[in-house]
Amino acid sequence: MDEAWRIGVFVAVALVIGLIIGQPALLVLLVILGYLGWQLRNLRLLQRWLKEGKRFHPPESVGVWDDVFQEIYRLQQRNRKRKRKLGKMLNRFQEATEAMPDATVVLTPDDEIEWWNPSAGELLGLSYPRDTGQRIGNLIRHPGFAEYLRGGEFDGSAIDLPSPADERVSLSLRIVPYGKNQRLLIARDITRMQRLEQMRRDFVANVSHELRTPLTVVAGYLEAMEEECRDRDEGMRRMVEAMQQQSERMRRIVEDLLMLARLETERVSDSPEPVSVPSMLAAICEDARRLSGEEAHRIELEAEAGLWLQGNDGELRSLFSNIVFNAVRYTPGGGEIRVRWFEDERGGVFEVADSGIGIAPHHISRLTERFYRVDVGRSRSRGGTGLGLAIVKHVLLRHGGRLEIESELGAGSIFRAILPTKRLAHVQQNQISDDVV
Ligand SMILES: Nc1ncnc2c1ncn2[C@@H]1O[C@H](COP(=O)(O)OP(=O)(O)OP(=O)(O)O)[C@@H](O)[C@H]1O
Ligand SMILES: [Mg+2]
Repeated sequence: MDEAWRIGVFVAVALVIGLIIGQPALLVLLVILGYLGWQLRNLRLLQRWLKEGKRFHPPESVGVWDDVFQEIYRLQQRNRKRKRKLGKMLNRFQEATEAMPDATVVLTPDDEIEWWNPSAGELLGLSYPRDTGQRIGNLIRHPGFAEYLRGGEFDGSAIDLPSPADERVSLSLRIVPYGKNQRLLIARDITRMQRLEQMRRDFVANVSHELRTPLTVVAGYLEAMEEECRDRDEGMRRMVEAMQQQSERMRRIVEDLLMLARLETERVSDSPEPVSVPSMLAAICEDARRLSGEEAHRIELEAEAGLWLQGNDGELRSLFSNIVFNAVRYTPGGGEIRVRWFEDERGGVFEVADSGIGIAPHHISRLTERFYRVDVGRSRSRGGTGLGLAIVKHVLLRHGGRLEIESELGAGSIFRAILPTKRLAHVQQNQISDDVV
């Protein structure tokens, strides 16, 4: 508006002077030309200023052009500030990722390497600029990694493998998807952890092994002592019996620990033997009835005839018997225990349902931990060590199976071991099923 007024005033003045000197058209034309020239000059100033860019202050002018220059200048300042802030943030972010001990590699949707931090350079042996744009699969050539990458299911699972830069370094690798089909590869050095884990395993195995012989000797002497004082000294006999019970308990703990150590360290056999699960379960149920004794649990077995399983005989026996004996131990006398072995779309299913004391939900996920017992006193009085389900978990792991536990406090439990279909074998045989006891 100001500008329109200004033009109006100029033209009016030119008109008045023009009328006085008798040349109004000429003067108005001159004023308009002058005004146009001024506009052009300012346009040029603006152009030059924007082009140079570096010049800090805007050109000086008046009127509408001054407003335009000042407004653009303000915008520029604001942009500069934002840029500085972003730059600082980026620097801080880069410093943080550089300081990270974990290797971080940014991958494109085609698994090409886009960026990495110095730890990645060290742990994975990446070097700039040689490896930019390389496919990650060409760099980490471990077959397990190729499979992991191809699988494309990055739900937080990690894969352990030796570093491509140094065989002695063990890495735990995982891929995290982000943004638009981008992927982040994160690798962590777990050499120390693995070494400690190995030391723990060796230690437990060695201690267990070393305890075996003294325990056998003690048990032998206790037996001799028991015979010695059987009919003579009642007080002494009871003492010796208590000692025998405890040494037997210790022997069982040692045996279980050794079994666990074996399960953890021994290689899984490439050629598993076919195991007749129905007859194995029949024998285990017989033992369970013996264990139940006067408590007279009703133990039912229902096993699909001829449904065998490829696996390790000893390990599978331990798996089944631990679950069945638990059902007997944690079900009050007269209770019902149903053992089933059948095939369905999940695979081979071994299921033990009892009408026992049940388990509160917050304990369930921890039952397979070593020495974990819901009620230590009760378990111990039943001769339990808390290693049974840890063994079950390991055996299942070695057979590609999984454990499901359903339970309600006071309403019984269902323990279900599911084994992969590819391990099942069908053998012609008569139905094995024994009757309610
Ligand atoms: N069928 C069941 N019903 C109720 N609780 C159970 C059942 N099975 C297992 N538990 C609980 O889980 C715990 C762990 O079982 P686990 O078999 O590992 O150890 P344990 O039976 O105490 O000792 P052991 O090493 O001799 O088997 C038990 O102490 C018990 O509290
Ligand atoms: Mg047990």
